[in-house]
Amino acid sequence: MNFQEIFEPPALREVTLRVAKLNGVNLGQGVCLLPSPEIILDAANTAVHKGFNTYAPPQGIESLRVAIAKRLNTFNRIPYETENVLVTAGSTGALEVVSETLLQAGDEVVLFRPFYPYHSKMFARKGVKINFVELKYPDWNFDPDELARAITPNTKLVLVNTPHNPTGKVFTESELQFIGDHCVKRNIPVISDEVYEYMTYDGRKHISMASLPGLQDVVLTVGSYSKTFAITGWRIGYLAAPLSMINNFRTLNDQIYVCAPTPLQHAVAKGIEELPDSYYENRLAEYASKRAYLHEALSSAGFNALKPQGAYYMLAGTSEKFPGMTSEQVSDLLIDKAHLGAVPASDFLGSVVKGDTKRSNFLRFCYAVPDETLERAKQNLAKI
Ligand SMILES: Cc1ncc(COP(=O)(O)O)c(C=O)c1O
Repeated sequence: MNFQEIFEPPALREVTLRVAKLNGVNLGQGVCLLPSPEIILDAANTAVHKGFNTYAPPQGIESLRVAIAKRLNTFNRIPYETENVLVTAGSTGALEVVSETLLQAGDEVVLFRPFYPYHSKMFARKGVKINFVELKYPDWNFDPDELARAITPNTKLVLVNTPHNPTGKVFTESELQFIGDHCVKRNIPVISDEVYEYMTYDGRKHISMASLPGLQDVVLTVGSYSKTFAITGWRIGYLAAPLSMINNFRTLNDQIYVCAPTPLQHAVAKGIEELPDSYYENRLAEYASKRAYLHEALSSAGFNALKPQGAYYMLAGTSEKFPGMTSEQVSDLLIDKAHLGAVPASDFLGSVVKGDTKRSNFLRFCYAVPDETLERAKQNLAKI
């Protein structure tokens, strides 16, 4: 990825604007339009009125760090203490702090492709070289030798995202152990971006890399309540890291963001403390049902829809229905004819493969939307 690409707006932005103008259905951006739990909305209101409106400590308020550490112990099986937790401005804030602390221009990093564009752009901004490891369509497996080759003497960081955006891949325990063992051997930190940790389907279990044997000293776990509580605009995320590194990350968090929004930290703490397991189970069941609905809608419209293992995006192959067309062209056609927004593959592959119809033959649809929106999408799909 070159520097110029950083400033190229993703196709996703244009899709959003065009669909809004047509009053169409936007399944492009992953904004997460589901209702947020009442308990945290009330708690935010209370926190604001109680006067929690000034700066929080740069590491985050104590009650939230305690609550996150408990979840890390129980759900993620990572034996961390409160001191290992840094509250950040969304997981984006956590990623930025790590990148700013650990990377310098000329360094190398390893990233799986397709990728979440913020990951690649963050690295490009730092002027580092990205060595890509390909997740292979349609199972999204990777070649272990390719990973071993991608890690060079200049590699300063590896980034893994599970469940993965955009493919939905849930990395298996042996894949994570393999990646982690390589990082241990070469003494390279690895970011594990786990913002979709509660969204794994068909009985799959989310595995946190830092919970695996021997990996705790190299893994930097990045999490967020954006998706879990459907509060993408609140900007509450976290970084959980070994004590040897957390102080530097806290300093950078202070310098870049000062702190995450104080009253909203109080509200999220309350949500974590008080929402029962059934909250997470019910959300997952809702997502599973939306996944089934969208899969059926896209398949019957002639797309090669792939059921994701996790997260809340569905990739749909376009080459059978629209042979020879790039994903950008199919995305344009969907907007014009069906008033339906989806993100073309080029956003997740970068310029290397832009316009290459062999590789860029899919669109990404987000189903974190109300059922009525999915129903409208299905009706609109019938128009193509
Ligand atoms: C893989 C991944 N990581 C991080 C983020 C950023 O989330 P946050 O709102 O916590 O900054 C997203 C958002 O779409 C994402 O898909």
